[in-house]
Amino acid sequence: MSRLLVVSNRLPVTVSAAQGDAIVTPSMGGLSTGLRGPFERSQGLWIGWPGDLSKLDDAARASAMKELQALRTLPVELTADELRQYYEEFANGVLWPVFHYLLDRIPVHSGGWEMYRRVNAKFAAAVAAQYRPGDTIWVHDYQLLLLPGMLREQLPDARIGFFLHIPFPASEVFRMLPWREDVLRGLLGADLIGFHTPSYARNFASAVVRLLGHEPVVDELNVAGRKVRFRAFPMGIDTETFTAKVQPSDEVYRPRPGEHLLLGVDRLDYTKGIRRRLSAVERVLLRRPDLRGKLRMLQIAVPSREKVVAYQDYRRRVEEMVGAINGRCSSLIDAPIHYMYRGFPQEQLIELYRAASVMLVTPTRDGMNLVAKEFAAARTDGDGVLVLSEFAGAAEEMPEALQVNPFDVDGMAQAIEQAIDMSEGERRNRMAGLRARVLRFDVHRWAEDFLAALDDAELGTPSEPTP
Ligand code: ADP
Ligand code: F6P
Repeated sequence: MSRLLVVSNRLPVTVSAAQGDAIVTPSMGGLSTGLRGPFERSQGLWIGWPGDLSKLDDAARASAMKELQALRTLPVELTADELRQYYEEFANGVLWPVFHYLLDRIPVHSGGWEMYRRVNAKFAAAVAAQYRPGDTIWVHDYQLLLLPGMLREQLPDARIGFFLHIPFPASEVFRMLPWREDVLRGLLGADLIGFHTPSYARNFASAVVRLLGHEPVVDELNVAGRKVRFRAFPMGIDTETFTAKVQPSDEVYRPRPGEHLLLGVDRLDYTKGIRRRLSAVERVLLRRPDLRGKLRMLQIAVPSREKVVAYQDYRRRVEEMVGAINGRCSSLIDAPIHYMYRGFPQEQLIELYRAASVMLVTPTRDGMNLVAKEFAAARTDGDGVLVLSEFAGAAEEMPEALQVNPFDVDGMAQAIEQAIDMSEGERRNRMAGLRARVLRFDVHRWAEDFLAALDDAELGTPSEPTP
């Protein structure tokens, strides 16, 4: 029977050690939370890194392996050195800032390329060992850009799809990467390459023309006699989860009467625009004394990539800012910024989405941003306002949000005031438009559309270029 082999750096569950035992918990981040549902419906196998197993004794390790197998996941274990160079230094130290246009974050000595290549080869070997003729291979994200090309060499007839979960930058920026041609050739090993938005797909096409000289015909490239297609497939969310009733948790947030709750929910990542967002909230507090004591900002930041220095610095700067704003704007009975550095179970996140008056999603750049869609889906009451960065991929599909330029702090402050002052009628109208689209184009439809397009691929025969 043919199967779906999903391949991503991180498995949808992460194994950790606690007092000698192995604990298996859901992984955080858009790729894992999004793809989990479609994977559960498939007959597939998910291949990826399970977390650090080195601290487990033999018994704990055996029990973790059993659990991973029961979840249809196949671990690719990485050594401390591999993780440091491939994941921290290269994928998150170099590719992440380049693809998010944060060029001042690229280190002068950008190391890790050689190890990035070796770890991609390690994934290729793990996938090839599992592959049976007829299987479909679906590779995900920027940690594995070379994998489609490596798999193509080993499995010339395989059906291979690739999806990028982060932006593909303008070719002017992409071409700053010293390894730009290798990266493109790696991607072109796939039969179908998916992006969140049409503009990322256009950026990719222009990089391929400029750096490799392959001219696309509409959304198709002829790569040495092989057909490679590329297209936008905007990712959705598992709407059933976010529209469901949830059991009230022990730790429920109850806004006080007359309180406006502003909510931010992000991985603690410097692309998420948390500092500028906080600064905008402070401006509102300074400009609108009538809102003092009535406005509360709850910022939830889930720990992420804690070994990467840029993330450690960013965390420190966010926390200093929370302290500084509270120092300036608190009263004896109230502090306006409520900040928590931890993950939350999904049910509790849903409760928070439902309690918020205004959701602030203001990344300086984001491939899609599923939090914006989760908020809209969760608002079964039809109320609530979404303030959304125009630089999030989700903005293209969410015109009813109050869209802001996250670099314009004053403009964001004005949008927050507009959201707070908005009439109920306007809030409901906007939310109805947002919800209709989010509920219609959910993650199952996204996965089905991508896999159907991959299945349709007539492998091997490119169309003639138009004269
Ligand atoms: P990214 O892929 O960059 O992490 P997304 O917004 O696309 O960004 O996805 C983030 C995912 O992580 C969402 O599914 C969201 O629910 C989840 N998430 C974010 N913050 C937290 C948190 N503090 N606790 C639990 N889950 C979180
Ligand atoms: O969306 C980008 C991404 O890297 C995904 O691959 C992943 O789901 C998420 O961010 C979390 O990142 P990490 O796996 O590095 O914790």
